[in-house]
Amino acid sequence: MSYGVLLGGKRVRPFLVYNVAKSLGVDVSMADAPAAAIECIHAYSLIHDDLPAMDDDELRRGHPTCHKAYGEATAILAGDALQSLAFDILGSANYEANLHFNWVKMYQILSQKSGYFGMCSGQELDLEAEGELVSQEQLETIHRYKTGALIECAVRLGLLLKPDLSETVKEAYITYAKNIGLAFQVWDDVLDIISDTETLGKPQGSDLEENKSTYPRLMGLDAAKTYAKDLAQNAIDALENVDGEVQTLQDFARYIVTRNH
Ligand code: IPE
Ligand code: IPE
Ligand code: MG
Ligand code: MG
Ligand code: MG
Repeated sequence: MSYGVLLGGKRVRPFLVYNVAKSLGVDVSMADAPAAAIECIHAYSLIHDDLPAMDDDELRRGHPTCHKAYGEATAILAGDALQSLAFDILGSANYEANLHFNWVKMYQILSQKSGYFGMCSGQELDLEAEGELVSQEQLETIHRYKTGALIECAVRLGLLLKPDLSETVKEAYITYAKNIGLAFQVWDDVLDIISDTETLGKPQGSDLEENKSTYPRLMGLDAAKTYAKDLAQNAIDALENVDGEVQTLQDFARYIVTRNH
């Protein structure tokens, strides 16, 4: 479990929980539990994603994948246990009394976006689409579920740390989240082509090898890059009229579609 969580990674989802909270003026230590919880879910999703029955990859974060280092059975169980650890961590926080109801909502959103209404369904759709010619609409659904859902969840966890936010403000953040969530996976597809294994810390060309449905395959490499950047711009625009320190989140949207790993 610690191999899967602690060997590196960009910590994108915790970053979002912290920085959404910060932009709303919330004491960031309140974000520790949801930030750690969502990273555990993410790490579990990567361990399982790399298994032979899924993407069959041998390198992750610059190291042998969990099943290569410890065997398949242990990798499956480490993923399972990281999933339940996430909910344990969420429940172990010392939260303020005015957040009681929102904390229950955090459990709900983390469950939804990890499972049937999020990552797991997306992973199933991704596997079903291997070797298929899917429409842009279908590919968007796959990407929104398998990756966008947890990124949106990170933003929603940050929002839940601030009780009584107006619907308008929440909607602005959620539009931001949906756009960076899709942009993140479109750019991940782009990196599978333009980057190299050492920089990525995972095998370059894995999508081609597994005959995955990706944005570059659907629309061509240049159009996929442009699409990702347009989505990032939509995210930046969504926060334009929000009061508060949103600059870091806007910079982060730019980072998502310029990063090299
Ligand atoms: C990789 O996620 C899997 C996708 C959802 C695209 P990250 O790119 O966030 O992986 P780490 O955590 O930095 O290793
Ligand atoms: C993975 O998408 C999404 C997850 C839910 C883990 P990918 O299969 O493209 O992620 P990488 O490229 O292996 O990191
Ligand atoms: Mg995959
Ligand atoms: Mg993969
Ligand atoms: Mg990928």
